[in-house]
Amino acid sequence: MTIIVTGGAGFIGSNFVFHMLKNHPEDRIICLDKLTYAGNLSTLAPVMNQSNFRFVKDDICDREAVYRLFEEEHPDIVVNFAAESHVDRSIETPEIFLQTNIIGTAVLMDACRKYGIRRYHQVSTDEVYGDLPLDRPDLFFTEETPIHTSSPYSSSKASADLLVMAYHRTYELPVTISRCSNNYGPYHFPEKLIPLMIVNALHDKPLPVYGEGLNVRDWLYVEDHCKAIDLVIHNGRVGEVYNIGGHNEMRNIDIVKLICNALGKPESLITHVADRKGHDMRYAIDPTKIHNELGWLPETKFADGIEQTIDWYLHHQEWWETIISGEYQNYYDKMYGNRAVLV
Ligand code: NAD
Ligand code: TYD
Repeated sequence: MTIIVTGGAGFIGSNFVFHMLKNHPEDRIICLDKLTYAGNLSTLAPVMNQSNFRFVKDDICDREAVYRLFEEEHPDIVVNFAAESHVDRSIETPEIFLQTNIIGTAVLMDACRKYGIRRYHQVSTDEVYGDLPLDRPDLFFTEETPIHTSSPYSSSKASADLLVMAYHRTYELPVTISRCSNNYGPYHFPEKLIPLMIVNALHDKPLPVYGEGLNVRDWLYVEDHCKAIDLVIHNGRVGEVYNIGGHNEMRNIDIVKLICNALGKPESLITHVADRKGHDMRYAIDPTKIHNELGWLPETKFADGIEQTIDWYLHHQEWWETIISGEYQNYYDKMYGNRAVLV
């Protein structure tokens, strides 16, 4: 089979490319990626010369380029990871999120309609469900939870999900959607909580925790997410949504303290800063459906996954040093330079 993986030079997409090449060597993997600030070709260097892998630098919003690729490759499956993915950036500049996350999804699905496809898979997020209150630990997001978004990012992802279901109903496009909780692991761009805290701590820089740090996220090791998507594209039912999450809820402040302790850094580096606008309090996935239908369960315990992740950042300094020495510094100064410090 030929599988187009969009956004394969980013965090989860690259992990998925590695997973597929390792576990399905008979398949041909085509990575379509625009290489935005979040895409990194050096990540894919180990597989670049593999005969069943091809990298194509293009924009999923570029209809001509996408159609050309479909004409050349006749893909059986498209897995769409390509997105603008950072909530804080979406608060600053929403429009690019609408362009890539919504229009890009429509262009990809139009190509699927025009050239035919066995499966179009949309990689979505638990953030489309909005947030849960901290005082109701009994509540979880199921696939039936209404979409109720908070940020321009989650709104753009929810819009894309609605379009995917509309293409299924209207054009009978064979689609699936997965909605995953927060991922962590290797190749995570250091603008997101866990890699940002690891990188800052290694430089003895302040660790900027938004507000009191009591917000809860449901963390899943990236390889477990990749395995879940692999199952959904092969065995998932067409037209269905699958939630992916590992019942691993953690408060931000506890994660940051854990990182300090693991790196032997003082917790006094933790700096409480002005909160994110519209900050979601708690995400928590109920993964019963994917467990019952596809037998998926997370395999990596958080204690092991975070140790492996910290170890990866310690041993791949050149990967993230290259990132933070470039345009990232302007981003960091803009987002954190004038941010009020809470006392
Ligand atoms: P990322 O920001 O690390 O990577 C995104 C990739 O998409 C980059 O390689 C970038 O170059 C590429 N890209 C961006 N715009 C493009 C365009 N117009 N055309 C082609 N390529 C483009 O993101 P990630 O964290 O790996 O997330 C991947 C997907 O998973 C996203 O759709 C995101 O919404 C979803 N998701 C992420 C998480 C998480 O915790 N990171 C959780 C659930 C769902
Ligand atoms: P993030 O990694 O941006 O993922 P998401 O917002 O998609 O869940 O943030 C995870 C949590 O960490 C979120 O509650 C915001 C918080 N956070 C901080 O406290 N400080 C930071 O510098 C960042 C980037 C995030």
